[in-house]
Amino acid sequence: MLRDEDRIFTNIYGLKDKSLRGAMARGHWDGTKQFLEKGRDWIINEVKASGLRGRGGAGFPTGLKWSFMPKESDGRPHYLVVNADESEPGTCKDRDIMRHDPHTLIEGCVIASFAMGAHAAYIYVRGEFIREREALQAAIDECYEYGLLGRNNKLGYDIDIYVHHGAGAYICGEETALLESLEGKKGQPRLKPPFPANMGLYGCPTTVNNVESIAVTPTILRRGAGWYTSFGRPNNHGTKLYSVSGHVNRPCTVEDAMSIPFHELIEKHCGGIRGGWDNLLAVIPGGSSVPCVPGAQMKDAIMDYDGLRELGSGLGTAAVIVMDKSTDIIKAIWRLSAFYKHESCGQCTPCREGTGWMMRVMERMVQGRAQKREIDMLFDVTKQVEGHTICALGDAAAWPIQGLIKHFRPEMEKRIDEYTRNATSHGAVLEAAE
Ligand SMILES: Cc1cc2nc3c(=O)[nH]c(=O)nc-3n(C[C@H](O)[C@H](O)[C@H](O)COP(=O)(O)O)c2cc1C
Ligand code: SF4
Repeated sequence: MLRDEDRIFTNIYGLKDKSLRGAMARGHWDGTKQFLEKGRDWIINEVKASGLRGRGGAGFPTGLKWSFMPKESDGRPHYLVVNADESEPGTCKDRDIMRHDPHTLIEGCVIASFAMGAHAAYIYVRGEFIREREALQAAIDECYEYGLLGRNNKLGYDIDIYVHHGAGAYICGEETALLESLEGKKGQPRLKPPFPANMGLYGCPTTVNNVESIAVTPTILRRGAGWYTSFGRPNNHGTKLYSVSGHVNRPCTVEDAMSIPFHELIEKHCGGIRGGWDNLLAVIPGGSSVPCVPGAQMKDAIMDYDGLRELGSGLGTAAVIVMDKSTDIIKAIWRLSAFYKHESCGQCTPCREGTGWMMRVMERMVQGRAQKREIDMLFDVTKQVEGHTICALGDAAAWPIQGLIKHFRPEMEKRIDEYTRNATSHGAVLEAAE
């Protein structure tokens, strides 16, 4: 288990003083100016060496992403945009950073902006996060007052941070839809290329990073890339905020090492599975967009990018949704289908039409009011959506259903048999009565 002194988020539960003074007392904002004095290349190389991978879901290496930004400005300003939209079902880690430990994010914004030559950073906060936005804004105001932000500040690098709040659309978490929304337009993903590093916000070089990705960077610089790589397996380094929800005895968000075994995560932090390990049905280990994994396979799973990929799923945002045997797994996946149908922006035909079609077939699968061959047809349709759309929402809608069919086909067939039997016997009763 991660030792307390190795935790980056020292106030994730909000039990301590979250003000600038409190944050400084816990070691944040320590040596920030010296990091900037070491130069952009040093910062980017250190972040690269730490092995940090983006915490927004895709796991793209953060240092590499920063290095894609042009070294010199061609006259256009550079921007850092922080993705605080956090709308992936099950995911609730960024909100805890913003409401309880906001200075980790603000210090991270200063360092990342400097490393990419940006003098303005925008934090795009999910519309429903009112208290989070207030806490973040209060912390930013403190930094302006104390002279850590703005022009001619104590750090010697001019930087302004703006908090912008969305209006509650899941799709605005997709980075290019987020940029559209930030520009005041409808939140619809852009075709890539061009990538944001060349043409992002207002057509200028931009990097979009998740809240957690940015908030961990100051501590990585303070403690060194070697410290960060001491956690987790190669290619999966660092510490990680896991949000565990569902049928565990104590759902929580907790920071622990990457590559922690699932069993240990649940036993040490969540008080075990409700009703014991034999009662575990399935787990969605990385937010609603990744396929579910049956309980028996999950128990020994290694919680990192590679470990969960080997199980046909993914670490995603590390939002771990635990389902015990009381769960109607077909209904649970149908509910996700309904979510993706609702959130599709409608630009691409396979997603716009496919999400609705999949949801309606899933509705019938919940009742069992279907033919068994429709299970294969449903699978085929998920394959026609996956990889054929502008953004990854199409994949996100397809994968949970694929996971269900792969692991719980007998359950689906049983439901169809039951429905057919009931319908037939009901019919037989009617016939007898005539
Ligand atoms: C439909 C959809 C929703 C997304 N929602 C979020 C989100 O709420 N927060 C987030 O950080 N990334 C989200 N992402 C991923 C972003 O597009 C992007 O990869 C991420 O912000 C990059 O940050 P990172 O490199 O630090 O992980 C979403 C992607 C898709 C396709
Ligand atoms: S995949 Fe869906 S959400 Fe993404 S751009 Fe296409 S229609 Fe919009």
